[in-house]
Amino acid sequence: MKIKEIYETMSYGPAPESADEAIQFLESHKREFKLFINGKWVKPSSNEYFETINPCTKEVLAKISEANETDVNKAVTAAKKALPEWVSIGPHKRARYLYALARQIQKHSRLFAVLESLDNGKPIRETRDIDIPIVARHFYHHAGWAQLRDTELKDYKEVGVIGQIIPWNFPLMMLAWKIAPAIAMGNTVVLKPAEYTPLTALLFAEICQQIGLPNGVVNIITGHGKTGATLVDHKEVNKIAFTGSTEVGKIIRRATAGTGKKLSLELGGKSPFIVFEDADLDSVVEGVVDAIWFNQGQVCCAGSRLLVQESIADKLYKKIKARMETLRIGNALDKSIDMGAVVAKVQLKIITDLVKQGVDEGSTLWQPSWTCPKVGYYYPPTLFTDVTPSSTIAQEEIFGPVLVAMSFRSHKEAVKLANNTRYGLACSIWTENINLALDIAPQIKAGTAWINCTNVFDAAAGFGGYRESGFGREGGIEGLYEYLKPKVDDLLSDKPIKVAKKTAAKPNSNGQPNGIDRTTKMYIGGKQARPDGGYSTVIKSENGDYLGEVSKGNRKDIRNAVEAAHLNSSWEGKTGHAKAQVLYYIAENLAIRREEFADRIVQMTNQNMASALEEVDVSIDRIYYYAAMADKYDGKVHHTIHRNVTLAMPEAIGVMGIICPNESSLLGFISTVIPAIAMGNNVVVVPSENMPFSATDFYQILETSDVPAGTVNIVTGSKDELSQVLAKHDDVDGIWYFGTKEGSKNIELLSADNMKRTWVNYGKHRNWLDKTQGEGTTFLRKASQIKNIWIPYGE
Ligand code: NAI
Ligand code: MG
Repeated sequence: MKIKEIYETMSYGPAPESADEAIQFLESHKREFKLFINGKWVKPSSNEYFETINPCTKEVLAKISEANETDVNKAVTAAKKALPEWVSIGPHKRARYLYALARQIQKHSRLFAVLESLDNGKPIRETRDIDIPIVARHFYHHAGWAQLRDTELKDYKEVGVIGQIIPWNFPLMMLAWKIAPAIAMGNTVVLKPAEYTPLTALLFAEICQQIGLPNGVVNIITGHGKTGATLVDHKEVNKIAFTGSTEVGKIIRRATAGTGKKLSLELGGKSPFIVFEDADLDSVVEGVVDAIWFNQGQVCCAGSRLLVQESIADKLYKKIKARMETLRIGNALDKSIDMGAVVAKVQLKIITDLVKQGVDEGSTLWQPSWTCPKVGYYYPPTLFTDVTPSSTIAQEEIFGPVLVAMSFRSHKEAVKLANNTRYGLACSIWTENINLALDIAPQIKAGTAWINCTNVFDAAAGFGGYRESGFGREGGIEGLYEYLKPKVDDLLSDKPIKVAKKTAAKPNSNGQPNGIDRTTKMYIGGKQARPDGGYSTVIKSENGDYLGEVSKGNRKDIRNAVEAAHLNSSWEGKTGHAKAQVLYYIAENLAIRREEFADRIVQMTNQNMASALEEVDVSIDRIYYYAAMADKYDGKVHHTIHRNVTLAMPEAIGVMGIICPNESSLLGFISTVIPAIAMGNNVVVVPSENMPFSATDFYQILETSDVPAGTVNIVTGSKDELSQVLAKHDDVDGIWYFGTKEGSKNIELLSADNMKRTWVNYGKHRNWLDKTQGEGTTFLRKASQIKNIWIPYGE
């Protein structure tokens, strides 16, 4: 084309970014990469290699080591060995290393960007302007957190050796999100990049060498899923952090169940992009481009479900199609393209198959008139309309450039449609009415809500899922807790605390020991309920005296209780102040019946009256603590780098199952149930199995304290049986378990199906009387999840 012609047509020519420096890097390793263990390049003991390609050209870029069990062992051993020194150098020195990493990444940002685009197939414009700047920002931000650990988070310590497994869609960014907080908090890591995109992680290893990061603090091992699984199973690994498919996330949840390994999972999504009729449609169109055609749609939080208000649907589809026609697809290194190639042949097949299924199921497909380049793994931007909410393409994560559109009429319907998914990673809300946006955002079950924007990230804000999008947060202070453990955990004991006993049990005048001469019922939906099975269990005191009987709850009773908890929609929406009022009222009513509750404890345990009264008094004190916190455990406005107010709001988890400890019959119940409801959850409680009467006596207190029906439901019976039913229940969102080691394992195992948030004690006991062990913000944090709401400002 002649210059004059170019001026006339104003079409873009190719503007390739040079790959020279990246090629030099590959050549410096003779295009054959070893493993980075203990600060050195080590040959894989299998001597096996696999190839990583450029998906735009299918050209082989380099050979990559396949790490086996021996190599994983080596890496974990190196990380373990490096740990004491890395801990002891303290916050400031760690901060300096993180700062040095940030500087070096910035200095080599062009090389990183080119290498990333070559290996992954994503546009250089994105790696250069989005991925790599976020990576550098992440290390800078966490250099700060490293410095602040011992002052801002002084009740916490490092977790130890961290195993990290990351996907291929944002290879270096995911590495930064994993490594920066981990090492900032004093942990050492073994990281496995994805098999399709290991190159920038290997360049990062070189950067670690360059800045003189102590050997073994960061180890990079390459390989496929099996290498990842070996890392997950390794006994010396104290935590696994994973980003990837929900399927593998569930495998990892099950594999780590009961081991005590900390776990954070950032999984898939099918995020709604909701457009109300008053939205600025031209902005919406650009938003859609960023939501689903950014990174070829291979984004866990991609706005892949377009939900449009019916009145403007056709108009918007028309505009989107016009914009799709102008999108440019091509080689990732071309600076003027909008879309590159999909990462691998298998991913292209998944997309192609799902699109075919969409057509087969009757949805209408639209693609631009132009064709994709022939050589690489390209897939054109795609729009589906006439989609039914239950169809495969509306439910399954496609992980490609495929937008699925549906329409709604009312606001209520929009929320319902948005939440009609098993996922909950993000949502994007478009309207010019800020009141509407802020009304909708809290109603969507997702970890991030973007208002009039989409796919914005920053190191200062937490990112992570609700529901089957996983648990845990990355970024900001929210993300740090994933790499810390409370110091108080070291004080937990293998045995419950001993209580002071009476000298001898005192029988009643009628010769019967003290007790309840009736069968207590259960408490469901604000009413006392008979057990479905009609059975009861005899409860004896510690001395073996008959005390009374409790209802033996079964599967059906749990189901009824969960249903009652879901039916109560009023509690979560109450203000902190209103919740506090109810909690104070509970405390007041318990105080009135202080002696009666102490008597009951004495009957069950034969402990002396003074210690029983202490348990009641600490319970009242504890309720006051959570009443006080109900309107004080609040959110933050994060200092993100964009022109945004980023609100981090703690929200209720939803319906929680709470399996109380057997010991401290009253205080164990109070210490677990009260923080959960203080955060707005509705709970199904299984009280102490051998001492249930403090909980069954508590019904009267709940009834007289304005606790709404369904907020606290109590099912008595076999702890093992009932907790398993709760753990398997699909409508239970979170579960706390205080019991045996084996029981803890079961809870973690069974809760994987719908990815419940779990908190278990692995058979360790707290001294519930001790404030540092029995109460605090840890309980509130475990009873809530943070949603980050991004609200841009300015013109
Ligand atoms: P994947 O979940 O299999 O891979 C992610 C990482 O996990 C890779 O490093 C892989 O080697 C590793 N891995 C695989 N199996 C493992 C195991 N059993 N134990 C430990 N580590 C294991 O994802 P894949 O196969 O690359 O992509 C499949 C689908 O997953 C995509 O189509 C997409 O739907 C979803 N996905 C979601 C991502 C997200 O960010 N949410 C990222 C990547 C994929
Ligand atoms: Mg590759």
